[in-house]
Amino acid sequence: MLSRCLWLGMAFFGLMLAPAIQSADVNDARARYHYQMFCQGCHTPDGSGANAVPALKNQMGLFLRTEKGRGFLVRVPGSATSKLNSAQLAEVLNWSLDNFAGSSLPEGGYEPYTEAEVAQLRQQPLQEIENYRATVLAEIVATMQ
Ligand code: HEC
Repeated sequence: MLSRCLWLGMAFFGLMLAPAIQSADVNDARARYHYQMFCQGCHTPDGSGANAVPALKNQMGLFLRTEKGRGFLVRVPGSATSKLNSAQLAEVLNWSLDNFAGSSLPEGGYEPYTEAEVAQLRQQPLQEIENYRATVLAEIVATMQ
């Protein structure tokens, strides 16, 4: 009886520790390397950005709250037109979310980007970003009130 309780307790504890949804396909070393090679020059090593480059840090997770926002993270030119293929870009975005987004992630985690989703979204890179981003964020703020 005692060992059964112990086992159940451990199983429960294990569940509590596991993030709601894991981006299982992320190879940490490979994703970090791709970020360093293709993104970091503008976005800085810790994703905090500078000048005209917005912070990914503690922010990018906000965009996952709507479809448009989710699409936005892929359709910005730095993502969409990068030399990374779609599997690599999906991985870098998931890695960035895991490492930079912090408390901006939705409660309960997020659905990782897949190669297919990224491949489709990046076919329509954004031409105009400032107004579009403001609209996307206004819609997200509205869902949070
Ligand atoms: C040449 C500089 C540069 C590179 C390289 C670059 N970006 Fe960006 N990124 C920007 C700028 C500038 C913006 C702001 C929007 C714009 O003007 O394109 C941005 C915006 C973004 C955003 C939207 C953030 C927000 O809050 O609006 C994401 C996500 C993003 N980049 C991801 C990436 C990823 C992933 C890579 C690497 C594959 C990358 N970027 C490479 C300059 C860059």
